[in-house]
Amino acid sequence: MKKIAEILKTSLQEVHKASDINSLDSVRVMYVGKKGKFTSSLRSLGSLSDKERPAAGEEINKAKSTFMKAVSLRKAELETIALEEILKQNSIDVTLDGYASSRGGRHPISLARLRIEEIFKDAGYEIKSGPEIEDDFHNFTALNIPDNHPARAMHDTFYLNNGNLLRTHTSPVQIRSLLLQGAPIRIIAPGRVYRCDSDQTHTPMFHQVEGLVIDKGVSFANLKAVLHEFVACFFGKEVELRFRPSYFPFTEPSAEVDVLWGKDKWLEILGCGMVHPNVLINAGVDPEIYSGYAFGMGIERLAMLKYQVDDLRVFFENDISFLRQFN
Ligand code: PHE
Repeated sequence: MKKIAEILKTSLQEVHKASDINSLDSVRVMYVGKKGKFTSSLRSLGSLSDKERPAAGEEINKAKSTFMKAVSLRKAELETIALEEILKQNSIDVTLDGYASSRGGRHPISLARLRIEEIFKDAGYEIKSGPEIEDDFHNFTALNIPDNHPARAMHDTFYLNNGNLLRTHTSPVQIRSLLLQGAPIRIIAPGRVYRCDSDQTHTPMFHQVEGLVIDKGVSFANLKAVLHEFVACFFGKEVELRFRPSYFPFTEPSAEVDVLWGKDKWLEILGCGMVHPNVLINAGVDPEIYSGYAFGMGIERLAMLKYQVDDLRVFFENDISFLRQFN
């Protein structure tokens, strides 16, 4: 009994001395492992007399469980200490500056498109859209460009295998909108258009805004007034316009419009004209009753002027340092 009490006492001291989980485990093995001191004491019970054995057995078991309890208490203690140590080392200083996250912004083409939409919405125009994959009828035939018409060569068209095509302009939305809602109508239709063309001033995909106004007694003077008003709003200043006689199969008369940029530089921004009677007929509108104008402007060109960008391609390169300027 005295020996057991002695073992227990030193075992508890060692438990308390153990300064980490590993050494605590060695202490545990030293006492209750296969060759541990409590283990061998229990084994040696056989050498005691029948009278002594039960009391001695009970004593050893009691000592062993006291020891085990001390081990698990110390283990919890050491784990807490270890955790606190980790927390201390990885502590977060909440008073430090954070990383600045940069704000995104809209693409300049989107900015220009949204501004154009805003200006025309204020003038009572509805905003329409049409499919980018078009059929021959809406992109050409209904716009007074029949098969074999030389004007088809002006459009370097991307054709799909099934005979459809990527629209070469936003003008097919004129036809779709008229067929859908008839006259009178006052719409713009911004969107992507595609031409098999690529150089410094052309990209295979670019953006246009179509405009269409059909009503009774609409004249070319109305068209001129609207375009003058539009460019003044868009550029935020009076800008001189030049209407150059031109040709489009779907308008008659037709014009291309240039803005005076700098001292004597004229830059084309759009095509326009009075809607051709054949187009009205193709779209189910009576040209004896209604007349109107249409225009198609290039958003890239307008954005280049507004934001003083001189190479079209930067709009499509996604260079973050270029785009950031518009945030
Ligand atoms: N669709 C013509 C083009 O892409 C532009 C245009 C639109 C001209 C409407 C006249 C009227 O070049």
